[in-house]
This record gives sequence, C-alpha cells and structure tokens, in this order.
Amino acid sequence: MFVLAHLSDPHLSPLPRPRWSELMGKRATGFVNWRRNRHLIHRSEVLARVVADLKASAPDHIAVTGDLVNISLVGEYALARTWLESLGPPGDVSLVPGNHDAYVRGAAHHFHSQWGDYMRGDEANNNACEVEFPFLRRRGLLALIGLSSAVPSAPFMATGRLGDEQTTRLAGVLDSCRREQLFRVVLIHHPPVSSSRRHFKRLVDGAKFRAVLKEHGAELVIHGHDHVHSLIYLAGPQHPVPVLGVPSASQTPRPDHASAGYNLCRIEAQAGAWHCEIVSRGLSPDGETVTEIKRISVG
Ligand SMILES: [Fe+2]
Ligand SMILES: [Fe+2]
Repeated sequence: MFVLAHLSDPHLSPLPRPRWSELMGKRATGFVNWRRNRHLIHRSEVLARVVADLKASAPDHIAVTGDLVNISLVGEYALARTWLESLGPPGDVSLVPGNHDAYVRGAAHHFHSQWGDYMRGDEANNNACEVEFPFLRRRGLLALIGLSSAVPSAPFMATGRLGDEQTTRLAGVLDSCRREQLFRVVLIHHPPVSSSRRHFKRLVDGAKFRAVLKEHGAELVIHGHDHVHSLIYLAGPQHPVPVLGVPSASQTPRPDHASAGYNLCRIEAQAGAWHCEIVSRGLSPDGETVTEIKRISVG
C-alpha cells in the first residue's frame, strides 16, 4: 500500500508588503483583489489545521499542485519555500507550479530558482537553472509525472498552457512508465477540462493533453485551480482515466465556496490489477476540525 496525499492552492498568507515598483499592470489589480476579498478566504490558520491533519495520516509522499503564492512578489517565494520545507524534504514532496506562481512575465522564473528541488525528476541535473517538465519521480510502485501549466496571462485571465514540446515528452514518459508497470500519477495545476463558465481560467491546450491521455493512458490525474473537490473520467486506451481535483487547502468555510480540504490516495496492486481508494478530508462547517467527507474507489 502506498499513500499519496494531495493538497493544492494554499495561496499562502500574509502577503509581504510589495514595493511600489512591483505594483504595475496585473499585480496592481491582483493586490487590490487580495486586500479586498481573497485575504478573507485564504487563511494561514486554516491551512495549518489541514496540514496537521494530513501529517497525522503519515502519507508516504505529498503532492502539491500549485498556486503557493498570490501575485508573484519576490518576497512571496521565500515564504513559500519555508512552508514547503515545513511540509517535508524535497524527496518526499513533489510540486508543480500554478498560474499564481507565474503571475506576471517578470516573475515566471522565480519558482525554478526557489523551489526547483521540489520539482526535479530523479535523473535531472541538479545544477540546471530551470526545471524540465515533465519531471519523473519513482516512488515505490508509483511514477509521479509533473507538468507545468504555469504561464503568465493577461489581467483577469488565469489560463494555463502546456505547449507542444511538453505534451510530446509526456507521451514518451507515459509509455516508458507503462512498460515498467508503474502506477502513473500525472500532476498538473489546471484541470484538463473546464466548463464554459470557467473559460477565462482554462487550460488552453487541454484538447491536446486529453488526446495524449487517450492514446497513452494514465492511472490517475490530480489537479487544483478550481478550488473544489471534483472527479471526472477521461477516455484512455484500455480504461478510463480518473481526474481528481481538490479544493484550496486554506479556504475558510463559507456558503459561497468549498471549505479547505485534501485527498489521500491509497494505492495498491491486487491480483494483477491496481486498486486506488480516495479518502477526501475537509474542514468542518464550524472550521474547527478536519474530518472525512467521502471515500470512493477509482479506476
Ligand atoms: Fe488557486
Ligand atoms: Fe490557479
């Protein structure tokens, strides 16, 4: 049995005081939005409760699918690095970036330099300035395949993109891991399918990503970005591919959005087939405790 914990979108707070020079363009609207609204939603005390509950489960590995920061201020990355280290060492925690981690063009390289060792594959060059995606980490019977959909976008947009090079490499990694008979978990920030209501925050080349999954398969795709628990199935070569989303790990309980939560994926091989049980845990309506919400088998 291998237990993979998945949390996402901590949107860490408090926000460091920005320099005036940092509040240009998209960051200005993002800063106003944070001060007016988002700082009331994403709370550090909520995140601490969720992480404490997650750690009490003693998972074998933790996956984090992005949006650690908010408006990509330089000071946010160092705070996020400290938070990552409190979660676990780079060998035990795998990270992919979200759109808020590459909020503006001038900051899109910071996650490479500040968080690179949480995103490098087992065989990657540790001295390289930039992390290569997809990365591949083998942990027990699992292949953790990390993608980056984090690209800067225009104000009021939160789209993501993988690009042709990354999707082409992904196809090869999925095939080689299938030959090794590993349970392939794909980590991505953006969901592969967005409703029309969420058009402004879609994965723009989601159709290409879905085509790769359909031809090459995966045992599980995990994502964040939409800040809700979700499960859909996409077409795969032999069996459907479960696609699992989690809420933000720091959201306060409110009537207008999901409360903070995370998933535990309990994976084992049984009689020549994979068995994967998902345990969803989340904050109670009074915000005081983290409890089990549901338990389902996927695959
Ligand atoms: Fe987010
Ligand atoms: Fe996001």
